[in-house]
Amino acid sequence: MAGLDPAIHVDQSESRLKHCACGTAWMPVTSTGMTVSRNMPNIAEGDDTVTRVLLVGCGKMGSAMLNGWLDRGIAPAGIVVVEPGQTARDAFAPKGVTVVDDAATIAPTFTPDVVVLAVKPQVMAAVAPAYAKYKDSVFLSIAAGKPIAFFAGLLGEVAIVRAMPNTPAAVRAGITVCVPNAKVDAPRRAACQALLEAVGEVAWSEDESQMDAVTAVSGSGPAYVFLLAEVMAKAGIAAGLPEDLATRLARATVSGSGDLLRASAESSEQLRINVTSPGGTTAAALAVLMAEGKGFQELMTEAVAAAAKRGKELAG
Ligand SMILES: NC(=O)c1ccc[n+]([C@@H]2O[C@H](COP(=O)([O-])OP(=O)(O)OC[C@H]3O[C@@H](n4cnc5c(N)ncnc54)[C@H](OP(=O)(O)O)[C@@H]3O)[C@@H](O)[C@H]2O)c1
Repeated sequence: MAGLDPAIHVDQSESRLKHCACGTAWMPVTSTGMTVSRNMPNIAEGDDTVTRVLLVGCGKMGSAMLNGWLDRGIAPAGIVVVEPGQTARDAFAPKGVTVVDDAATIAPTFTPDVVVLAVKPQVMAAVAPAYAKYKDSVFLSIAAGKPIAFFAGLLGEVAIVRAMPNTPAAVRAGITVCVPNAKVDAPRRAACQALLEAVGEVAWSEDESQMDAVTAVSGSGPAYVFLLAEVMAKAGIAAGLPEDLATRLARATVSGSGDLLRASAESSEQLRINVTSPGGTTAAALAVLMAEGKGFQELMTEAVAAAAKRGKELAG
């Protein structure tokens, strides 16, 4: 991607999910095929691959990730969810996941390999300290705007990964950027990678200062794309279409173009050029959208900068 800082790279080699002979369990493996899950204790007899996961907060993002883990074959017996809401209990307890109300109710024998912190940033300071006793775990936070130093202050000298996922995770099409602290060793990093890969792509950065920009592009980005569908529909109505047809056309065009972008080896720029005949209808529209100094690019640059600035403010 043009302009992407070289400190960020999509890591597909270090760890990927691999189905083992039993057909349901999975484990992180290296590009050479060696497992990196050797420090991950067993959770079920006969299964030496699955990590134990404690999910704190099972709302929109938490439940999207949990569905991804279950779909990818992690044994529900290895997952404990802390969530006060009844919806999560109704949805996941029947699948064999242990769902409890609060940290105090977790069985003392349960020692998670990964603690996923998925509550709202505003309540994180009140919620996280109850889990500080899991000193050997890696803490994977998906909270927007909360830096690693914030968690170190709450949890002490533990392994922490700050991650920024996005809502397409709900359909396994998300992308998450992760920043580890110095305590995150290879097995812990691989475990986080494996959990996040269950809901989409994963990229790692060693530079935490990039996270405000990451949040502004991919964390908030789905809203920009949904807005595109909204404004296209309204523009279609203004051009004379009935509302239901305009809405359907905009929705199918945005989602279909996203599918094409995902499936194609060509850049988004080339895909745009491919549908633009010189002097044609698309060229007429793009002359407006790409007008020098007042086009879509300037607007998006301004929007992303505003989101990144807000992220910095929220972090305090
Ligand atoms: N949604 C996004 O687009 C997005 C993208 C990237 C990152 N994130 C991050 O993901 C995190 C979760 O966001 P979300 O959108 O999933 O929020 P959400 O739907 O509100 O989920 C948070 C869940 O945590 C529960 N909770 C509250 N107090 C708790 C406690 N003490 N222990 C355990 N669970 C508790 C809430 O239950 P109640 O509702 O009953 O209070 C709720 O179900 C946030 O930190 C956010 O910054 C979200």
